[in-house]
Amino acid sequence: MMKRPRILRKSHAVRSMIRETFLQPDDFIVPLFIEDGEGIEKEITSLPGYFRRSLDRTVGEVESLWKLGLKSVLLFVKVEEHLKDNQGKEAINPEGLMQRSIKAIKKACPEMCVMTDVALDPYSSYGHDGVVENGIIINDKSSSILAKMALSHAKAGADFVAPSDMMDGRIANIRLELEKEGFHETGIMSYSAKYASSFYGPFRDALDSAPKFGDKKTYQMDPSNRLEAIKEVELDVQEGADIVMVKPALSYLDIIREVKNAVHIPVSAYNVSGEYAMLKASAKMGWIDENAAMWESVLSIKRAGADLIASYFAKTIAEQL
Ligand code: PBG
Repeated sequence: MMKRPRILRKSHAVRSMIRETFLQPDDFIVPLFIEDGEGIEKEITSLPGYFRRSLDRTVGEVESLWKLGLKSVLLFVKVEEHLKDNQGKEAINPEGLMQRSIKAIKKACPEMCVMTDVALDPYSSYGHDGVVENGIIINDKSSSILAKMALSHAKAGADFVAPSDMMDGRIANIRLELEKEGFHETGIMSYSAKYASSFYGPFRDALDSAPKFGDKKTYQMDPSNRLEAIKEVELDVQEGADIVMVKPALSYLDIIREVKNAVHIPVSAYNVSGEYAMLKASAKMGWIDENAAMWESVLSIKRAGADLIASYFAKTIAEQL
């Protein structure tokens, strides 16, 4: 008997009846870049249409994101050069820009879920995610500092801490530190399967956080590997992660699906800076329909299995929904 799959694609009505994947504003996490100062709103050259703002402007932005139905922001701060060192001292400063930002945002918009990046690279004089000794990123020393850093974010009022450093054992360390200090309600969204990717370039421009020597291949994962992603995710689940993340998203849709099938906790994916920049650049050249390509790529991440998507397109998507 002749099969007629086109019947289900025949009209807008039929297509919408059988549609499987939908996006909504609360699928998204909005990354925000903050710098010290006042009245600053600077477009990031390699992220056209995306801004780094001072805290006063960030608070206003968070309020407008909330009105659009977006429920979560992920904070990154640009650290002034003179505050950088090899121990990430500024990362645990209770009066640091990150800690002040968390407080100000929670005060202005208490219901917004505030997530914070936990890694040393923006604070590191070497631009690495941990402490460097003789050219090596030292795991356990870094992990203890990251636990203190996470605690200081929790104290400032962060709802979730998001370790993006890929040190071994840091989820357990962070959970222990939070428990010890009575922060039983602070979540951990772990960047569990984070690849050593070339797609982070524009982000490193935005924060001036590129590594000063070498690369991140001794802690971030080899893009060739699949089993390793499942191992990392399973370890983070055992260690107490509440949400696991795959990053980047678009070159790793297979990994998102496998992780989704492997664990029974929410999975997030990071539609990273290079993925955004590529699309913007080709649209600018007139080679691609920006809006259609944005929807298609973000939808593919959800279809692959992501429950949550961190994306620089979040606001534009929410505006169009
Ligand atoms: C810091 C961090 C990075 C990103 C998120 N957290 C950069 C890196 O690991 O070098 C990248 C995000 C993006 O490219 O959008 N550890």
